[in-house]
Amino acid sequence: MEQAWTHTTVLLKEAVEALLPDASRASGTYVDATFGRGGHSRAILERLAPAGRLIAYDKDAEAVAEAARIEDARFSIRHQGFKDVGELPPASVAGLLMDLGISSPQIDNPARGFSFRFDGPLDMRMDTTRGESVAEWLATAEPQQIAEVIRDYGEERFAVQIAKAIAARRQERGPISTTAELAELVAGAVKTREPGQNPATRTFQALRIFINAELEELQQALEASLTVLQPQGRLAVISFHSLEDRIVKQFIAKHSREVYDRRAPFAAPKAMKLKALGRVKPSKAEVDGNPRARSAILRVAERTTDA
Ligand SMILES: C[S@@+](CC[C@H](N)C(=O)[O-])C[C@H]1O[C@@H](n2cnc3c(N)ncnc32)[C@H](O)[C@@H]1O
Repeated sequence: MEQAWTHTTVLLKEAVEALLPDASRASGTYVDATFGRGGHSRAILERLAPAGRLIAYDKDAEAVAEAARIEDARFSIRHQGFKDVGELPPASVAGLLMDLGISSPQIDNPARGFSFRFDGPLDMRMDTTRGESVAEWLATAEPQQIAEVIRDYGEERFAVQIAKAIAARRQERGPISTTAELAELVAGAVKTREPGQNPATRTFQALRIFINAELEELQQALEASLTVLQPQGRLAVISFHSLEDRIVKQFIAKHSREVYDRRAPFAAPKAMKLKALGRVKPSKAEVDGNPRARSAILRVAERTTDA
C-alpha cells in the first residue's frame, strides 16, 4: 500500500489573509504557485466567490495528482515550474502566493532522495519527469563546479574538501548513487560540526537548490509578478532560508522605491511598482506544533498603479 505523506501548511491564515484581505477581492483570479498538498489552495478556495478563480502550479507529479482530486470549477492545476507564471495575461492576477522549497511528502519519502536522514536514491528533483538527478550530475561535474555549488547554495566552509572527496570516491569506486553514501562522505570531509546540525545539511540544501534551479526560478517568477499582477494585486512569498529570503527582500525593496535616471537628473522618477506591506513570522505556538515552520518568513507586497 502506498504511504499517505502529509504536509502541515505553514503560515496558513497569515498568507491567505495577506493575499485576499477582504471580500471585495473574492471574485479575482489567484495563483498558488506551489500547490504542495494544497493547504493554502483549499483555504483560498474557501474565501473565493463563485466568480473567483484559482490557478495552481507545481513541478511535482505527486502534488499535481493530489490537486486533481479537488473538484471545483474555479480551480485548475498546471504541472509546470512557477517560472512560467509570466504566461498568464498581463494585469490579470489579484494575488500570487509562493510557499517556497519542498513539502514534507517530498522530504519524508526516501525514494525522492531529498534527505540524509533516510537512505534512498540520490535524486532530489521536484519534477522527476525531466532533468538530471543529483546522482547523475555528481557523476560527471567538475570538482570546481561541485565546490562552487556547495559553497554558494549551502554557504558551506568545507565545500572544496567535500568536492575533492566526491571526485576521489568517483575515481576509486564509481559514482555515488544513494543519499547515505553522500551523507557519509560529507561527514568525513567536514571538519567542524555545527551543534545540533547534521554535517550533510548544507551540502544537501545546496545540491537541492542547484538541481531544481530554485533561486533562478524564484527570480524569474518575481519579475513576472510585476507583469501579471493587477493594480492592488498582492504578492505573498514564504521563504525558508536566507538565500531565498534575501532575493525576495531585495526584489521588494528594489521595486518599492522611485527610480531616478542619473543621466536625466531633472526628469520625473519612474514610479515604484510595489508597495511593501511587511513581513510575518510564525507564532511560537505554530513553531511548537510544527518545527519545520521555525525558519519561515512571509513577505507581502502590493502592486501599485502604473503612473
Ligand atoms: C512548501 S511546499 C508547498 C506546500 C503548500 N503550500 C501546502 O500547503 O500544501 C512547496 C511545493 O512547491 C513546489 N515547488 C517548488 N519550487 C517550484 C517551482 N519552481 N515551480 C513549481 N513548483 C515548485 C514543490 O514541488 C512543493 O510541492
